[in-house]
Amino acid sequence: MALQVCKDIDSIRQWVAKWRSNGEAVGFVPTMGNLHAGHLHLVEQAQKRTDRVVVSIFVNPLQFGPGEDFNAYPRTVDEDRKKLEGFGVDLLFLPTNAGVFSNSASTTVAVGDLSGRHCGRSRPGHFSGVATIVCKLLNIVQPNQLFLGEKDFQQLLIVRKMISELNFPVQVKGIPTVRENDGLALSSRNSYLNALERQSAPLLYQSLCRAKEQIKNGRRDWAGIEKEQVEILEKAGFNVDFFSICSVDDLLPAANDHASWVILAAVILGQTRLIDNIQIMRS
Ligand code: PAF
Repeated sequence: MALQVCKDIDSIRQWVAKWRSNGEAVGFVPTMGNLHAGHLHLVEQAQKRTDRVVVSIFVNPLQFGPGEDFNAYPRTVDEDRKKLEGFGVDLLFLPTNAGVFSNSASTTVAVGDLSGRHCGRSRPGHFSGVATIVCKLLNIVQPNQLFLGEKDFQQLLIVRKMISELNFPVQVKGIPTVRENDGLALSSRNSYLNALERQSAPLLYQSLCRAKEQIKNGRRDWAGIEKEQVEILEKAGFNVDFFSICSVDDLLPAANDHASWVILAAVILGQTRLIDNIQIMRS
C-alpha cells in the first residue's frame, strides 16, 4: 500500500478503524520529524511486531520552554516523507497546529513526581507537554502498540506510567538507542554541533560506559562515581546538567539493593543539550 498522508483526525481514525476491524494490529511511532536512523529503527521494530504502521510528525510547542529551540528545531517534512515511503510505512499523520490544539485548550496531562526529576528539573513543563501530546495522539490514532526510543529514558518511563494509570488500551515498546560508530546517540539535535563539538560529543557515552564498568566491578559509592565522571566531562568542555545513577524503576537515587540501575546524563556542549543513558543489570 502506498503511504497515506492524513492531516485531519477523522481520516486517520477511519483508516485505523478499518485496519483494526480486519484484525490487523496497528503500531504507532510518534516523532517530531527530522527522521534519522534511530526513528527508522523504531519503524522497523513496529513493522516486525504489527501489521500496519502509523508515524506522526509534529513539533510539539508544549514541550519547549521559553528560550528553547522550538523555532530552530529542524523541520524536514519532504525528506521525512520520502524516507517513510521507502520504508513502506502505511500512514503518516501530519497534524497542523490548529488541528491538534484549539486556541482555547485548557487541559493538560501531568505525571506526578517522575516529571520533576532530572530533565524535568531543568526543563519545567517539558514532560507535561510530552504527556499531553502523547495522550492526544493516542486518542486520535488508537494504535495497539506504541514505539518509543530508550534514548529519552525518562520520557519512556513517564509515558508508560501515564498509559498504565490512565488505562490506555495500548502496549508500550521501548526500543534500544541507535548510536553512531563512535558511540554518540542519534538525535536530531546532533545537527546543531559544530565540527569540534561533534568530535568531543562521544565522550558522554564513554563516561556512561566507564561508570557502568565500575558498578559492574562492584563499586557502590554512587556519589563518588558520579563526581569523577562530571569532572572528566567538565574538563573536556561539557557543561554537565546532571549525571545521575538511579533505580531503573522510578529514577530515584541508586541504592545497593536495587536489581538494576540506569545512569541518566544531560550535558550542554556549546549551545546544544545532549542526553543519554545506560542501563546496568546486577550480575
Ligand atoms: O521523543 C519525541 O520525539 C517527542 O518527545 C514525542 C514523543 C514525539 C512527543 O512530542
